[in-house]
Amino acid sequence: MKALVYKGPGQKSWEEVPDPRIQHPTDVIVKMVATTICGTDLHILKGDVPEVQVGRILGHEGIGVITEIGSGITQLAVGDRVILACVSSCGRCSNCRKGLYSHCLDPEGIAGIGWIFGYMIDGTQAELVRVPFAENSVYKVPEGVTDAEGILLSDILPTGFEIGVQYGNVKPGDVVAVIGAGPVGLSVVMTARLYGPSKIIAIDLDDARLARAKDFGATDTVNSGDADWREKVLALTDGLGVDVAIEAVGIPQTFTMATVIVRPGGNVANIGVHGKSVDLALNELWIQNIDISMGLVNTNTLGMLLKLVAEHKLPADKFVTHEFSFDHIVEAYDVFGHAAEHDALKVLIH
Ligand SMILES: NC(=O)c1ccc[n+]([C@@H]2O[C@H](COP(=O)([O-])OP(=O)(O)OC[C@H]3O[C@@H](n4cnc5c(N)ncnc54)[C@H](O)[C@@H]3O)[C@@H](O)[C@H]2O)c1
Ligand SMILES: [Zn+2]
Ligand SMILES: [Zn+2]
Repeated sequence: MKALVYKGPGQKSWEEVPDPRIQHPTDVIVKMVATTICGTDLHILKGDVPEVQVGRILGHEGIGVITEIGSGITQLAVGDRVILACVSSCGRCSNCRKGLYSHCLDPEGIAGIGWIFGYMIDGTQAELVRVPFAENSVYKVPEGVTDAEGILLSDILPTGFEIGVQYGNVKPGDVVAVIGAGPVGLSVVMTARLYGPSKIIAIDLDDARLARAKDFGATDTVNSGDADWREKVLALTDGLGVDVAIEAVGIPQTFTMATVIVRPGGNVANIGVHGKSVDLALNELWIQNIDISMGLVNTNTLGMLLKLVAEHKLPADKFVTHEFSFDHIVEAYDVFGHAAEHDALKVLIH
């Protein structure tokens, strides 16, 4: 089969590799129908994630059709069209039993981390994929859900919803600010609406991304390149700050931005993957009674979000801006890696 292979920092190749085989009774083999690229794949390619070995097949998002099942599989069958969760979880360890799939303790890949596709084991940017713990880690796609909708459920929609909206404790009537209007921030905008906030303020440096945020349901936008961006955000509240400030960029500056717009008693939810440590002004923040949360997506809400997508309550198809065939995947990386130039959001490879 062919797959996108990591060749070391800055290097990748779509090339012939051996087909994956069933290794454990709980595995299935999936023929990929569609995959996509995540900002995290770009981090890996830059060499920011040194634990990824040369030769690793990249990717952790995808939809495919099951072609082979392990001897322990009873709930899935050859021919099932399934969404692959970006987190693989055994469903049986003590963390999985708490719904903390992101910290699955099974030794497959690495014990204690559920995100292993395209990181610790071969990933989804391939013609065929071995999926471990398939019965807990894939979801059958209901009739009528397209590839462009389903692909968002592997990672991006659950991430925005779980680590942004749920951890941020968004409540009816809240004023919610989302810093960063990339795919993850826009997933927050889309899924925050499920809780009936009074306002959703999108904050970004890029006006094109802000315009898109309005289309995704943001009520207001603020360009954080403006010197008075903070005053503009506070003016959209009662003056005391937002109820929930959600960070969806992953740099120190944007985390700090979240802490200076949140009201006393509010929540700061960090989604961004940070490459370096971030200062926390506890000397100023301790007296504000704010909650700060963070985490790796669990994908434990994937099934629920899939129902909403199937019922057209979440317009997940809005994310895909560009489409490529599998053998043009390197071109897809070029477009996604220069998203602003191409006005790209999510690329569908199928
Ligand atoms: N916690 C998790 O489980 C998880 C899962 C997936 C992705 N992530 C992380 O979420 C983050 C966002 O992902 P994405 O794919 O949407 O990223 P992205 O790079 O596509 O989007 C980031 C957005 O932030 C904007 N931005 C950059 N600097 C800014 C600043 N100073 N002020 C305001 N806006 C600024 C950019 O213009 C862009 O629109 C990344 O760090 C990614 O690694 C986390
Ligand atoms: Zn991802
Ligand atoms: Zn587990």
